[in-house]
Amino acid sequence: MTTAPLADRTTAVAARATELSKIYGQGETQVVALDRVSVDFRQAEFTAIMGPSGSGKSTLMHCVAGLDTFSSGSVRIGDTELGALKDKQLTRLRRDKIGFIFQAFNLLPTLSALENITLPMDIAGRKPDKQWLDTVIGMVGLADRLSHRPAQLSGGQQQRVAVARALAARPEIIFGDEPTGNLDSRSGAEVLGFLRNSVRELGQTVVMVTHDPVAAAYADRVVFLADGRIVDEVYGPTADSVLDRMKQFDAKGRTS
Ligand SMILES: Nc1ncnc2c1ncn2[C@@H]1O[C@H](COP(=O)(O)OP(=O)(O)O)[C@@H](O)[C@H]1O
Ligand SMILES: [Mg+2]
Repeated sequence: MTTAPLADRTTAVAARATELSKIYGQGETQVVALDRVSVDFRQAEFTAIMGPSGSGKSTLMHCVAGLDTFSSGSVRIGDTELGALKDKQLTRLRRDKIGFIFQAFNLLPTLSALENITLPMDIAGRKPDKQWLDTVIGMVGLADRLSHRPAQLSGGQQQRVAVARALAARPEIIFGDEPTGNLDSRSGAEVLGFLRNSVRELGQTVVMVTHDPVAAAYADRVVFLADGRIVDEVYGPTADSVLDRMKQFDAKGRTS
């Protein structure tokens, strides 16, 4: 399915933040949500972003995904610098190059599963690639649920629709903020399995914010944030290794 050979995919950068800072407020109420963060998200790599509450995970994701402005530094998606774009161009880039999966599934209740999956492309006036659509729908196991409305689907099935919707447009990169936060552990495991498969089998790039070490273990790599900075990075994470790291940060936080 993937066009680029593996060697290219593993070196090409899908998204990059360079010295990215985001400051809220001014003077005494100022909050430095991101403090000169530099990070690459490589093509066909699954990255989990972890860190304590308030460490800047959502802010980093929103800034890199073009959903929020930043104070300084730069962000690029593929070869495009976000800072150079006008609002309209940014909206188009988000629509064409980025897929989103949110904690709340964000499906339209009056549309069928299939209509929800193709909605972003319908809005963009793009015809979905039928073969690709079938591949994606098959992978998330929704072929016999396509005419169902969201209310007729379980939470796990609804999130699978959201995963399929994100994959269907073949975006440069998919961002998820706690995408399994509303799911029971079994449905969560399924959705995480599909995300991992989309990376392994379809060459998709995925960046996922999570606080759950079990969820993070599905990723190829975990980036740890604390106080708006990247403090560590782990490749080939297991739930245990991630948990160990989290405990170390907690201990440091208490003694400093
Ligand atoms: N709109 C906002 N106005 C002011 N401060 C904010 C705003 N959004 C986030 N923050 C602050 O920025 C920091 C990082 O927030 P966030 O990225 O949501 O953290 P996380 O997702 O890791 O919990 C926190 O201190 C938070 O209170
Ligand atoms: Mg958050």
